[in-house]
Amino acid sequence: MRGSEARSVSGASIRIAGLAKQYGSVTAVDDVNIEIASGEFLALLGPSGSGKTTVLMSVAGFEYPSRGRILVDGDDVTNTPVNRRNLGMVFQKYTLFPHMSVADNVAFPLKMRGIAKAERHARAEAALATVRLAGYGARMPSQLSGGQQQRVALARAIVYQPRVLLMDEPLSALDKNLREEMQLEIKRLHSELGITVVFVTHDQSEALTMADRVAVLKDGRLRQIGPAKELYERPANLFTAGFIGEMNFLPFRMVSRADTIVVEGASGPAWQLPLEAAVDDLQPGQPGLLAIRPERIALAASSGDENTVRAEIKDIVYAGAALLIIARLPDGSEIRARVPGASDLRGLKVGDVADLHCPPEAVLLYAEGPR
Ligand SMILES: Nc1ncnc2c1ncn2[C@@H]1O[C@H](COP(=O)(O)OP(=O)(O)OP(=O)(O)O)[C@@H](O)[C@H]1O
Ligand SMILES: [Mg+2]
Repeated sequence: MRGSEARSVSGASIRIAGLAKQYGSVTAVDDVNIEIASGEFLALLGPSGSGKTTVLMSVAGFEYPSRGRILVDGDDVTNTPVNRRNLGMVFQKYTLFPHMSVADNVAFPLKMRGIAKAERHARAEAALATVRLAGYGARMPSQLSGGQQQRVALARAIVYQPRVLLMDEPLSALDKNLREEMQLEIKRLHSELGITVVFVTHDQSEALTMADRVAVLKDGRLRQIGPAKELYERPANLFTAGFIGEMNFLPFRMVSRADTIVVEGASGPAWQLPLEAAVDDLQPGQPGLLAIRPERIALAASSGDENTVRAEIKDIVYAGAALLIIARLPDGSEIRARVPGASDLRGLKVGDVADLHCPPEAVLLYAEGPR
């Protein structure tokens, strides 16, 4: 139970309050408010240029906000220099000193803090063991693989037992297998050390697998924050719906809204949907976009089924565990369905017309508008 004891002492809470950052006329971050609990693992997710690094650097102290405050464990650190915030950092590129041994690299932050040599080396060795590199201390960074170098960077970030670990795309330089291995490694470290982690990524599946909560940024603004499941199952807006996972968007018009919602779309008869389907506040007569995940769509048992669309199959792609069916609706728009790889397609082939069933509870409705 060492892990849970550590959790209660070492992770700091972070409050990002009204953070804004201007570079001349460029607004990099615009009024971002996030509360991160002690020991939480938060991912900052967003497309390139959305402000992720700027938020992280403001927490670290490398950037000074144009407006807003940063609080760590309730203390306002907005004016506190980087080296006095006691936060660990890991960057995208391995930033090891090439002329220093692995052990000296890891011990470096301790040297900067004036800790004696014997203790430095004992603590560096312990940190290396934590990232599963015990015995590698005498090597030079050039004698390590990319994944091992990034582990050394991680050891160096945790060696002085920071209250928070800030990571900016630390795995993006690694290949897929190594990246997945390191994702698990970082998660293990997080639960073992109990420290608060803020992890920047533009890879949505990485954010969903690793984090307790995900904050979605776009154009410097926070668009949604919540647990992975919530973001995936009920995106709060069109941007998140399109950015996280795969999503089909079909145009529709709302016919009525009473005990249920009735919508009509590009093809087939009107659909009845539960009231909860409407994410945005849509009114009868209004057009919108109906969203449904490809894996929620199934081949209809018979053509008389409710909530189906008729679509012409353009392609069937075998993707191991799943089959991807790409089809075209009468209005020309595309719809994708993912069905289990072992599914019986009942002889369907490219060029055939299929009835695709969209279960009402899997449908979300958004107003049309900018994403
Ligand atoms: N020093 C700077 N001077 C001017 N503009 C900047 C500066 N740093 C960042 N920006 C701008 O601020 C915005 C946010 O940049 P930021 O680096 O935070 O994005 P990001 O989400 O980390 O992107 P990426 O995924 O590409 O790393 C971008 O439009 C960027 O061009
Ligand atoms: Mg960045």
